Amino acid sequence: MDANDPKSVLIKLEALVREADEAFTRAATADEVEKARIYYLGLKHGRIEEIEAFFKSLPNEAKRGFGKPFNEAKLALKNAHEAAIIRVQPEVQAAASSSFSLTGSASVAFDFSLPGIRPRLGRRHPLTQTAGELIDIFGRFGFTLATGPEVEDEWHNFEALNIPPAHPARDPADNFYLDAKTLLRSQTSTVQIRVMEKQPPPVRVVAIGRVYRPDEIDDTHHCMFHQIEGLYVDKKVTLADLKTVLRLFAASYLGRDVHIRFRPSFFPFTEPSVEVDMSWDLRGGKWIELGGAGMVDPNVFRAVGYDPEIYSGFAFGLGIERMCMRRHGIKNIRMFHENDVRFLEQF
Ligand code: FA5
Repeated sequence: MDANDPKSVLIKLEALVREADEAFTRAATADEVEKARIYYLGLKHGRIEEIEAFFKSLPNEAKRGFGKPFNEAKLALKNAHEAAIIRVQPEVQAAASSSFSLTGSASVAFDFSLPGIRPRLGRRHPLTQTAGELIDIFGRFGFTLATGPEVEDEWHNFEALNIPPAHPARDPADNFYLDAKTLLRSQTSTVQIRVMEKQPPPVRVVAIGRVYRPDEIDDTHHCMFHQIEGLYVDKKVTLADLKTVLRLFAASYLGRDVHIRFRPSFFPFTEPSVEVDMSWDLRGGKWIELGGAGMVDPNVFRAVGYDPEIYSGFAFGLGIERMCMRRHGIKNIRMFHENDVRFLEQF
């Protein structure tokens, strides 16, 4: 190559691209492609490297106008190499050599006229969608999201919630114990304790998650279901606050025509306690139990080191499946877990 005549270098470059392109097109096996690669693109003594070495040896002013064509030539060689690699793959060769027919005869290896396989788009499970909506609604009321483990110890599931050792709720037959002191949580109220242990008042959180009970499975009961737990602790919180929040929540999620009823009840960790029911038709008199709620029991505050003389609070725990079922007219709780796409596709 003549260093004084950059034009001659460009002509050589063009010729090299043509020659390499033909060689890669001619190569019929992976071996032949590799040989061509080493000859043209090899890092040591490859033809393109020779030109690059020559280019680098030029004085600076002679290099001008040479960089772009060189890079383009190198890219063309790489593209020809990649195309050759794909072309010599056995599957591609088999498809190319098969006869093409619209009739579906036995000789067809791949029928290019068939429609492609449309990827099936997934969607979120209805319970996940419901959980998202609930977090949204309570977020607007100023509640942040808290979490806790599904495998719990007795302190968080029972003791700190004012449920002493002899209490029937701790019966092994009514819980999924993993060993003498560990169980799958039977309620999300455990998260109340975990949050209060970690932070001083005020507290305004919701927790959403799975809970487990060996209940007999029927249309509205399952052995694994979801609850949303709410906890609000501050100075001067009253039962009126609880009722307001739950009424507002019910209207936001279930619609303005829903009726909410508070029935006196008992939970060891709230005093007073209420059962929360919902209904759409007061004349029919049909009420569906949504969950339990109440004012946090002073013993619970003492267990986590809060002063019940200064602070008060409310807590609630609602069944998510029941809400979602009511909202969408789902008649059987089992449908959430059957993984039937005909059901899941409707959400
Ligand atoms: C509780 O679990 C209390 N932790 C609620 C609570 C929280 C009270 C905070 C006071 C303060 P209960 O066992 O009633 O309460 O369950 C609450 C709701 O979970 C029920 O109303 C129901 O909607 C739902 N639920 C209960 N058992 C099942 C089940 N086997 N399958 C589906 N949903 C259930």
